[in-house]
This record gives sequence, structure tokens and C-alpha cells, in this order.
Amino acid sequence: MKILFYDTKNYDKESFEAIRENYPEICLDYTKSDLDPRTAVLSEGFDAVCAFVSSDVGTQTLDILHEKKVRLLLMRCAGFNNVDLDTAKKHGIRVMRVPGYSPEAVAEHAMALALASNRRLYKAYNKVRENDFSLSGLMGFNFFEKTAGIIGTGKIGAAMCRICRGFGMKVIAYDVYQNDSLKDFVEYVSLEQLLSESDLISLHCPLMDSTYHLINIETIRQMKDGVILVNTSRGALVKTNDLIEGIRMHKFAGVGLDVYEEETNNVFEDRSDEILEHSTTARLLSFPNVMITSHQGFFTKEALEAIANTTLQNASDFIEGKDSPNDVK
Ligand code: NAI
Repeated sequence: MKILFYDTKNYDKESFEAIRENYPEICLDYTKSDLDPRTAVLSEGFDAVCAFVSSDVGTQTLDILHEKKVRLLLMRCAGFNNVDLDTAKKHGIRVMRVPGYSPEAVAEHAMALALASNRRLYKAYNKVRENDFSLSGLMGFNFFEKTAGIIGTGKIGAAMCRICRGFGMKVIAYDVYQNDSLKDFVEYVSLEQLLSESDLISLHCPLMDSTYHLINIETIRQMKDGVILVNTSRGALVKTNDLIEGIRMHKFAGVGLDVYEEETNNVFEDRSDEILEHSTTARLLSFPNVMITSHQGFFTKEALEAIANTTLQNASDFIEGKDSPNDVK
């Protein structure tokens, strides 16, 4: 089977090449281009394509992949909100994903963002480098005995609940389903109660119609003053302009974002002044209590190994015609 790997970074290639010999039936070819309607034609002669969170796997892209006789879309990530599943189904293109490669990788990054924005570590780092050892502007608050509100308690949210418990926090959660493994130390509450009682709010639900702009000016108003908000899930869970309004109202002690609405791979790589000047992400960066990272929550050695293993196992299951729990339907 021939797979075209889109949006290849050196670290992707290294992790996939490291295990490739375990899958002699699979032939991998790599391109740096991301998958979208312009680059879908590159799939000519391939049976499958491998894409990522940043790829545009909408109707147009899938129509072209179908024309090129691609039968399998391997998402090397958990989320699939960028895939038009109806069109994939219509064309008989099987979609598979990596549902949980390392929940701890993302949860640990969420806590890192919460701590860094609470204690202004980015500011402290720059101050000390400039020989300024004063503490002004660096005061945070203890997490110990404060309340953590976790929205979405699947794999990553559950890992975040365990981390918060380790910090001695009271952990409350909101989810449409309750996770039984957390019942000894997590209290499920309504979204309204979570918003009004939490000192740290961390988002771990997927992006869907029901969660789009879950954090907006109404929900921000329900939060405690001095709350810390962390989003490592998907940018569009938060309505950015409303978040900016909330920051200007001094609602937040800190905001840590690993994902943001305008996210594409090249917003920062291109660093075009024009893009930055007009971007809401740039506006967010102008606030001293906001810390943004570039969708790196998943980026650990263990997670990359797990992504490579599961993706190639998915391809192998496809070749053998096996059903898989990793099918996206
Ligand atoms: P999961 O599927 O295990 O858990 C998601 C949870 O959200 C489930 O418990 C589900 O019931 C809940 N949920 C669904 N609708 C909800 C709603 N309306 N309100 C509250 N909760 C709701 O997913 P997992 O693996 O924990 O991943 C969560 C998200 O993290 C992914 O959807 C993805 O967007 C993001 N992610 C981010 C990464 C990063 O590098 N920053 C890497 C991997 C995932």
C-alpha cells in the first residue's frame, strides 16, 4: 500500500521511519505540503493519505482524493473536526484516527500553561535575562486548595483531573457523560456552577456544533474574577473577540492557549507582518497575562511514537480488511 504523508516535519519522518520496517507491506512517501484542495492532486498513484489537525479535508479535497482513487484517510491525530465525514462516506473513503496517543502529554502541557501564566514565568524569564531581579508584576496565587473546573473529562480531561488532584485542588467537572474512573475525587456539576466556582478552568472537550464558542462573553461573565483559563483543545471553543473583551474587563489572572481560532501551520512560520497586524492572536499576545504556545500539547517523544505506531497499525488493519475502534464514522 502506498501512503502519501502530508505536512511532513522532520520529527514526523523520524518517528515513522523508526518503525517502518515492522510494516513491510506499507510504502511511505513524504511531502512538506499540507493537505488542502490545491495539494490533493499530489495523491495521484497513492492508495492512502496521512493528514493532520491543520489539514483541510473538506468536501473539495475529498472530491479530488476520490478522483485520484484514494481509499483511506489516515488522520495522525485525535480530532477530526476538519474532515467532511459525509463526503468521505459518500466516496467510500475510510477515515481512521489516533484516538488517544498520550493524554498525559496534553494534560501536562495544560498544567504547564496554567502555572506559567499564574506565576508569569515568561515575564520572569525575560526580566532575569535582562538583569532585572525585581518581583514586580510576578505575583500569582496558590493552586493548593483552590478549585479546578475541567470541561470534558475524556482521556485528556481525566489526566488533567488527576494532575489537579495532585496539586491539592478541589476538582469539579462538566461533561455530557460522566467518567466513572474519576468518581472518587471529581464532583460533576452544571456548566454554570463550574464557571462560577472555578479558580482554574481547563477545556478538554472536542470542537463540535454544541461546543463551538462555548467560552463567549456570557460564559466569561459567569466566571470568577481572577480566574485562569486554559485551552489546549481547539481554538474555536473560545470566541476570541469575547476573550479579548474579558481580558480587558480584568476577568482573568491568566490565560494559557495552545490553540486559537486563527490557527494554521503558517500563521507564525510565515510571520508575515500583515497577518500578525490583523490577527486576533496578535491582539491576544499584546496582553501581559496571556501565554500562547503553538499547538504543542501533543509534542512529546512518547506521543510521537504512539502516533506512528497507531497510524501504521490503522493502515495495516485497512489492508487486512479488519474493523477497528479507530474508525471515524
Ligand atoms: P475524548 O473523546 O477522550 O474526550 C472528550 C470528552 O469531551 C468526552 O468525555 C466527551 O463526553 C466530552 N464532551 C463532548 N461534548 C461535550 C460538551 N458539549 N460539553 C462538555 N464535554 C463534552 O477526547 P480527548 O482525547 O480527551 O481529547 C480532547 C480534545 O483535546 C480533542 O478533541 C482535541 O480537540 C484536543 N487535543 C489537543 C491536542 C494538543 O496538542 N493540544 C492533542 C490531542 C487532542
